[in-house]
Amino acid sequence: MKTFYIAANWKMNKNPEDAHLFLEEFKEKVTLKKGREALFFPSFLSLEVFKKMAAGSDIKYGAQNCHYELEGAFTGEVSPSMLKATGSEYCLVGHSERRQYFMETDSLLSKKIEALSKQDITPVLCVGETLEQREEGKAQTIVQQQLEATLKEPIKILIAYEPVWAIGTGKVPSIHDINEMHNFIREYLVKKWGAVGTETPLLYGGSVKPENCEEIENVENVNGFLIGGASLKVDSYLGIYQGE
Ligand code: PGA
Repeated sequence: MKTFYIAANWKMNKNPEDAHLFLEEFKEKVTLKKGREALFFPSFLSLEVFKKMAAGSDIKYGAQNCHYELEGAFTGEVSPSMLKATGSEYCLVGHSERRQYFMETDSLLSKKIEALSKQDITPVLCVGETLEQREEGKAQTIVQQQLEATLKEPIKILIAYEPVWAIGTGKVPSIHDINEMHNFIREYLVKKWGAVGTETPLLYGGSVKPENCEEIENVENVNGFLIGGASLKVDSYLGIYQGE
């Protein structure tokens, strides 16, 4: 059975105490199911809370960002080896907010991916076009460029397709458009990486909520979600996790 990922991107929300309360409620209410991976991206500060509270459960977690060096004079940064020590198994790379507000470029992201892989942390690479790019008919070209510039050797990675204009806006692309883009990414990966490309999980992100998740989950090459706003409350996250 293929794993379906329900990944929560908490962004700059929730302090460690909030994370603790969330996990208490979550563990009480959830029935973790085989084949559905509950995955959380809290702030760096809450990773230790996850380490303690997720121990012995199938709850997975990771960071929203990292540096590509393992240590050194990089004030304010956190390295992949530090993440490893928190038990993080995943790390987001190149979320559109990092690209937009922190000027992260594809060549930087490529270094982060390589560094994470070396630490056995699975990168979750985010790609996606802006509204202007979509309207100009360039969505696939942009996504292909982002993949081309960041992916080298076949590695264990998750790709999250997140149209920038759908993030936090309540706007979701049509099922036709999601299907078309996910098929496009799949074909690209299979051509580039063969069998690894066939297995690489493709997540959809951008205004996923309990009301629209079922329809999107049924799209052939959608293997999971990356969820912002709707992941902040236990009940709404569970509405997506439980698939109800
Ligand atoms: P959203 O965010 O679900 O609030 O649109 C998704 C994301 O930014 O990963």
